[in-house]
Amino acid sequence: MVVLKHFFPMKFKQFIFAGTFAFLILSCTNTSENDLIEQLDPAVVITYTEHIKPIYDTNCLNCHSNPPINGAGMPLSTLSELQNSIENTDHIDRISRQSGESGFMPLGGARLPQTSIDLIKQWQSEGFVE
Ligand code: HEC
Repeated sequence: MVVLKHFFPMKFKQFIFAGTFAFLILSCTNTSENDLIEQLDPAVVITYTEHIKPIYDTNCLNCHSNPPINGAGMPLSTLSELQNSIENTDHIDRISRQSGESGFMPLGGARLPQTSIDLIKQWQSEGFVE
């Protein structure tokens, strides 16, 4: 009992310390849904349907619909239309410019998040997976 009384407070403190430490480590490695969206996992194959189409539907189709409106030259509403544009125009360059620079896309809108631009480039380098 004497031994227990002597050691318990120390062990308890160590327990609390270790517990706090473990908690901190876990909270650092535990990724929220937001973090997961921000990170590019190289193991994930980027597909048109899941990753790319939503970006274009939200940011480009109000002009680059089929047929295009507001003076936009070509439609970006399907995989083949988009692939054609990426391969044959300065598409990637334009979305990589800063808002306000000449030729910047989306015209009149905010620059796409860098993560989205990186996704599009990765999709291109992986061969436009559907
Ligand atoms: C508000 C309307 C509007 C929106 C939104 C818009 N564009 Fe455009 N886009 C235009 C117009 C108008 C042109 C033609 C004038 C020019 O080339 O700058 C154009 C031209 C382009 C071109 C050049 C085409 C060519 O033939 O060389 C590309 C590439 C392009 N847009 C990509 C995009 C992408 C990608 C988005 C979405 C991120 C987007 N645009 C959003 C209006 C828009």
